[in-house]
Parts: sequence; C-alpha cells; structure tokens
Amino acid sequence: MINLTVDHKKIKELADLYGTPLYVYDENTIRLRCREMKNLLPYENFRVNYSAKANSNMEILKIILDEGIDVDAMSPGEIYIEQKAGFPGDRIFFVCNNVSAEEMLYAIERDILISVDSLSQLELYGKKKPGGRIAVRFNPGYGSGHSDKVITGGESTKFGIQKIYINAVKEILRKYSLELAGINQHIGSFILEEDNYIEGCMKLLEIAGEFSGLSFIDFGGGFGIPYNGDESKLNLTQLSIKLMNLIESFIREYDNKNITFKIEPGRYIVAESGFLLGRVNAVKYNYEKKYVGTDLGFNVLIRPVLYDSYHEIKIVKRDNVDSHEKEQVNIVGNICESGDIIARDRLLPRAEEGDLVVVCCAGAYGFSMSSNYNCRLRPAEVLICSDGTHRLIRRRETLEDLVKHFPGSGPAY
Ligand code: LLP
Repeated sequence: MINLTVDHKKIKELADLYGTPLYVYDENTIRLRCREMKNLLPYENFRVNYSAKANSNMEILKIILDEGIDVDAMSPGEIYIEQKAGFPGDRIFFVCNNVSAEEMLYAIERDILISVDSLSQLELYGKKKPGGRIAVRFNPGYGSGHSDKVITGGESTKFGIQKIYINAVKEILRKYSLELAGINQHIGSFILEEDNYIEGCMKLLEIAGEFSGLSFIDFGGGFGIPYNGDESKLNLTQLSIKLMNLIESFIREYDNKNITFKIEPGRYIVAESGFLLGRVNAVKYNYEKKYVGTDLGFNVLIRPVLYDSYHEIKIVKRDNVDSHEKEQVNIVGNICESGDIIARDRLLPRAEEGDLVVVCCAGAYGFSMSSNYNCRLRPAEVLICSDGTHRLIRRRETLEDLVKHFPGSGPAY
C-alpha cells in the first residue's frame, strides 16, 4: 500500500525534484515493521536477521541497525555493504550457497558466522577453518512461496541439506572438530498462511532434535505482505501463538532453555515502505489495446515480468485534476521486449503524457533486482525521513557509470 502520509502533491514534488524513475521509501514504515518483527515472539532469546537481499541500500541498513535487528548476507558484496553500514561481524549471518573458497574466506577473516548448505561446502569450511564454528542449512522437505522460482524447500530446489544426510553432516563435523552453532532453513518467499510457515518450523525442529548443544535454530524468512488490497495479510498474532507453542514444547523436550530462535524476514520489513515513481512518456492503441508507455522498464522493477507479480498502480495527474474516467490498459516500460509490462489489463483512471505512475509496495526486491539492461540507468532512491523531510539516499546513475568498467576507464585496469 502506498503510505498515506505521501499525498499527490508530495509525489509531484518528489518527481520534479529528483526525476523519474525514482524509488521512494518511508522511514516510519520501515521502523514500524522492524518493531513488529522484533516483538513477534514473547521469548527472551529471539533474534531477527533482516535479509538484505530485499533492499540493501546502506541508509536503509543503518535504520535497521538502529532498530536493533541483525542481518543476513548472501554474498561478500552484501557483507561489505552491511559492514559499511555499521554492522559488526557478530551481527551478520552469511547464509551462502555455492560460494568459492575465496568468498568463504572473506567471511571467515571477518569472524562472520557462515551457514553452508551442502556436504561439499561443509568439507570446504572444515579445510579452511578446522575447529571452527559453523551453521548448516537444511532442506526440511517442505516449501512454500508465490512462485516455483522462490520456493526454496522441498523436492525441486537446490537449497539445503536433506535430512537423510544428517549422519554425513555429523561425520564431517567430527572430522574437522567443528562446532555446530545452529541450524537454519528458508522454505520460500511470500507466505501468507501462517500454517505453511509453521509446517516448515515443525520439520526443522525435528531435525534439530537430532543434534545436541545447538546455540540457535533459524526458521528463515518468507513473510508475505498484501500487494493487492484484497489479499489476506499474514496473521502475525496467530503465527506468534503457534510458533511459541512449538518452541515451548521443544524446550521442554530437550531441556534447553538458552537456545536462541531466529527468523530472517526481508520483504516484510521493507516492501510496504517503498513505492516506485515513473512518468508517462507516450500513450497509444495497438489493436484496440491501450498502452501507457512509461519510463518504468523491467530494468527498474522486474518482479511483474519475472514472476507475474501484482503491484497496485496509482495514476497521479500532471494537472491535479483526477480523472474519474477509467479504462483498461497495459502499463508498459521502455525496454525492447514485449514482456516489458508492469501491469496488464488494469482498470485505471485515464492516463496521459506527463502524468505520474505510482507502483505500490515496491520497497522489496525492486531496486535490488534492477539492472542496466538496454544500457538504461539505475534509478535514484529517496528516503522520507521520520520528521517528514526527504533526502537522496542513492544518486541516479549517469552515462559515465555505464563505461567505468571498460579498459582505460576505471581504476582497476
Ligand atoms: N533467508 C534466505 C536464506 C533467503 O534466501 C531469503 C530470500 C530470505 C531469508 C528472505 O525472504 P523474504 O522474507 O524476503 O521472503 N525476488 C523474489 C524473492 C526472492 C527471495 C529470495 N530469498 C521476489 O521478488 O518475490
């Protein structure tokens, strides 16, 4: 949902000042979502890792740090940005997949806890850091999410170690005298039914029961948000009650009161805080279908093209006169592919050249998945601060940015 504190006048002001395409985030919403996550469980040893892949803008990471939340990382690049934002190594969890020895060493040298998700990477860690402390990601045999592309548990995924390999895990731990700090999972992204998340948690707890002396169990992220006003929202109260029941019975059964439980939300923390602002450059009819042509190509927001994802769209009229006339349109971008459609067959107020298009709930997996396809420039990002002021938190790319990696153009050559 577009944040209600941002009215049409402000939207026009932001577009005029910073240009489009533009990502805009609301600090208050990020802080609110951080607090909801932090207070999810009435349990002392409960920690939240923000999954920075959803949005790794350094200024946003600083807000999350300030809220007392930890982070996870998927690559040395994410570790690098997180440390620049101020996260100490012991508040970063490197949940990696198929990394090179160099990438693993990057985390080891910074005392960052690593989670490996194959026997082969566990061996690699053992060789690099015998006697070290490691976490293992399991595949609980169950997944959930909005698309096959983001379901990360169960039969059809590359992630995690299957339960049948528990003895092999134990053997490698012994071979290199490794301490198993904890186990983790992530069953998928965009879970709206709390029972789906709980099912994954139950399966991970069964696996946890096979190990002794764990310091933590990490259930992963995946919490959905209502992209469509009509969509149900994840029921956090029910999730909290059900998860606490599981945790309490686990603690009773294994008599381990000091164990920490973690979650890894990404989308939930940032998605609703952000919207994407674009400008209508052209309108036309092709075979009776109206196309509203904007500067929002899929290099800027790829979710609708990649996953058929729905984002609510609002039209902000250039001349302040809201149109009550609605029409069925395709909102499209400026990229050379027919799939470059941000909203298909939407009933929207009449849009004309110069109007603004607001794409709601674009704070997660928006900018972080943007690209330079067609040599388009990545957009600027702006933060609406808690006091109502706004500031640029990433400058728009320039044409020079496009050539800085070629021989003769950058410092690395
Ligand atoms: N933990 C791990 C290990 C993950 O791989 C992910 C996301 C998360 C946590 C956070 O998941 P979240 O709470 O944000 O659902 N690009 C897709 C989503 C991909 C998610 C990848 N992993 C999208 O735009 O829907």
